[in-house]
Amino acid sequence: MGFEKTIACIGAGYVGGPTMSVIAYKCPQYKVIVVDIDEERIRRWNSDNLPVYEPGLDEIVKEVRGKNLFFTTDLEGAVKEAEIIFISVNTPTKEYGVGKGMASDLRYLEKAARDIMKYANGDKIIVEKSTVPVRAAEAISKVLSGSKKYHFEVVSNPEFLAEGTAINDLLYPDRVLIGSRETPEGIKAREEIVKIYENWVPREKIITSNIWSSELSKLAANAFLAQRISSINSLTPLCEIVGADIEEVSKNIGLDSRIGNKFLKASVGFGGSCFKKDILNLVYILRSYGLEESADYWMKVVEINEYQKTRFVYNMIKEMSNTLADKKIAVFGFAFKANTNDTRESAAITVVKKLLEEKAIVSIVDPKALENAKKDLKDVKGTVFYTEDPYEAVKDADAIAVLTEWEIFKKLDYEKIYELMRKPAFIFDGRNILDHNNLFRIGFNVYPIGKKPLTHFEKI
Ligand code: UDX
Ligand code: ADP
Repeated sequence: MGFEKTIACIGAGYVGGPTMSVIAYKCPQYKVIVVDIDEERIRRWNSDNLPVYEPGLDEIVKEVRGKNLFFTTDLEGAVKEAEIIFISVNTPTKEYGVGKGMASDLRYLEKAARDIMKYANGDKIIVEKSTVPVRAAEAISKVLSGSKKYHFEVVSNPEFLAEGTAINDLLYPDRVLIGSRETPEGIKAREEIVKIYENWVPREKIITSNIWSSELSKLAANAFLAQRISSINSLTPLCEIVGADIEEVSKNIGLDSRIGNKFLKASVGFGGSCFKKDILNLVYILRSYGLEESADYWMKVVEINEYQKTRFVYNMIKEMSNTLADKKIAVFGFAFKANTNDTRESAAITVVKKLLEEKAIVSIVDPKALENAKKDLKDVKGTVFYTEDPYEAVKDADAIAVLTEWEIFKKLDYEKIYELMRKPAFIFDGRNILDHNNLFRIGFNVYPIGKKPLTHFEKI
């Protein structure tokens, strides 16, 4: 069957893979080619063991792979065949030179642009999907202007999907944002991208804007979401001291429709590949224009998050008689949130590293993220065990630290777990997902986030 058009995507990661799978699924008239330089990644996209775990993704990939969705390392072929090319490569925080630790590292993006230029055989629309600093489209256009033969129109189409709910977010987005230049070429390119999404997204949810607004909106959306979490987390130590309950506070303020109830869940700290990176990037841009006050404001969101992770471990040390040496800690969850195997910037990385510095023995349980946990901790000194069996992890453990809100942790037999642990047994619930009163009744000393602890110790 002939296809109406071909779409390529450079980068088969957490964004590119699921996004292109959904486009292929919803647009059988288009051929979609996803390219990556990582051969192993592509091999896995073509296998039954996909490199990304997302509820609903396996089914969609099975349905369309080999029909109108293809995963390949053949960049040249994909660039030649496609009229529209999405760039979905990683843009990590820069680890060298100017802007080290703050700015986005755009080398993968630039490399992708250069590859497009090298292999192109005609005009193309380039869609900036990776999260980028404001005015990155200009930087890509600058590189692409090196081609004297063809015209490349760059549009911005930031991704708002959250991991763990990626497929749902892609199928039913709150909005799709497409930014372009306000020139005839820019508007024409933008309309081409609108046409793709119109296949399943109601037209009123497809928003078009100027390209810089689109780029900044992505950074701002993530900064606002993260700011809500840091705001609520900043109140948790106060709650623990004065006896207020952070969940009640969240609920009470969230009922104000101007505030809303989402993203107000106190936790051991936010993780994920986006929040910290995007805020640092925003802060860097603000500073580069001399806007120090605005930069300091957003920087505090990251600092509160770092403080929350550290505070969690300090609290464990303090409550467990000021020493964790040779104590066994069962870490429940390593993924940065439930329903994903992704561990990038997970609070668990910081917490486990600090526990190991204290010479604790750590036993990590996670249903999906152990493979990534092993990679994250490969150079770390200390004793770490990995298991998918929570009952094995807690054997002779002194404490449990809940770091990811996996459903399975709620359904465990905590009477049995209590029996298996050393006494006194501690639970530090960094996600407030467990039944604290019941755990206390069983015999545990329970330390939720932002609530008064429930302990069996007598005050002397
Ligand atoms: C985020 C944005 O939500 C998404 O729109 C954007 O495209 C990419 O960045 P993601 O990082 O995948 O998505 O997950 P998200 O659900 O936002 O969670 C981020 C972190 O915040 C997780 O560690 C999560 O556990 C934590 N979180 C979230 C809280 O601690 N409390 C909350 O109330 C919500
Ligand atoms: P994200 O979460 O933004 O999707 P990932 O790191 O999961 O980020 O995925 C980005 C992908 O882009 C990786 O699989 C990486 O190998 C790929 N990539 C980076 N640069 C290039 C390039 N020049 N050509 C093809 N693929 C690339």
